[in-house]
Amino acid sequence: MKHLLGIAGLDRSAIEGYLDLADHFAEVNRRAIPKVPALRGKTVVSLFFEDSTRTRLSFETAAKRLSADTMTFSVGTSSVNKGESLRDTVETIAAMGVDAFVVRHKSSGVPWQVSGWTNAAVINGGDGWHQHPTQALLDAYTIRGAFGSLEGRRIALVGDIRHSRVARSDVDVFTKLGAHVTLVAPPTLLPPSLEGWPVDVAPSLDEVIEELDVLYLLRMQRERTNEALVPTLREYTDRFGLTAARAARLPEHAVVLHPGPMNRGVEMAVDPDELRGSLITAQVTNGVAVRMAVLYDLLAGRDADLTDPDALVPAVGSVPTGTDPTARTSGRQA
Ligand code: CP
Repeated sequence: MKHLLGIAGLDRSAIEGYLDLADHFAEVNRRAIPKVPALRGKTVVSLFFEDSTRTRLSFETAAKRLSADTMTFSVGTSSVNKGESLRDTVETIAAMGVDAFVVRHKSSGVPWQVSGWTNAAVINGGDGWHQHPTQALLDAYTIRGAFGSLEGRRIALVGDIRHSRVARSDVDVFTKLGAHVTLVAPPTLLPPSLEGWPVDVAPSLDEVIEELDVLYLLRMQRERTNEALVPTLREYTDRFGLTAARAARLPEHAVVLHPGPMNRGVEMAVDPDELRGSLITAQVTNGVAVRMAVLYDLLAGRDADLTDPDALVPAVGSVPTGTDPTARTSGRQA
């Protein structure tokens, strides 16, 4: 069974395959009835042990648009509160007949553990500080939509890199796609070691802002630390926040991303609705298409019978040039 546990196992062509497949599902999502039968009969469960708005609802929307059945596990109302272990929880849900688990947990590595306890596909929906692979794929998809390619683009990731699974996944995806990445953060918000990170580091946003194609603001993750890693939030904003004055210094073509949820007045010290080049809403919209691509690849993927008129979109890497893969012609190989 294939899983999506992190970005490390994906090379450039696999990443581009997901982005190309997401293009087809973005077209589905623009239809009057954005639903296709591609995963009819499959069941996708959201196994979230940590709060989420975007990732959970986006995956559930993606599954439903592919006609999969969905189950939602809410830790607060589950038998975890009676002491049931993670493994027993996974095996209990798997016994109901599940094809994919989307797992979010505050501990790094939990999706890997889960993949050892079930025959279902496991998708990492964010584990601790470690990885958030579908966030990185949707970020790359959004940047590619703005510029056509990430090749040679100058991207700054700004803020709490240390605690950020988004940063770890984004750096891997962006650099594999040819972008030049600079981390911008105070030393206390950088990882203890950057050995092996293919990045530059800048000590303040002012130093790089005029050279950027992409400004990627990260959230201050106050729930992941009890330490005072910045003197005050006001001082953080003074050096690293996107203020109106800094926004005016961004190049005209530059775009601004944020994975959400935003801390308004901290890293986002300008009204995002007034922000030229903001792609923050587009990230959320694109997240559904990208997650449809991931679910489709893992659950139908290369084994899909593409002569079946119900199989709407071919798998990653299998779109023949010059054909319309979304055409629903009975019996025709797409
Ligand atoms: N970007 C992101 O993971 O948001 P949620 O925590 O709301 O899922």
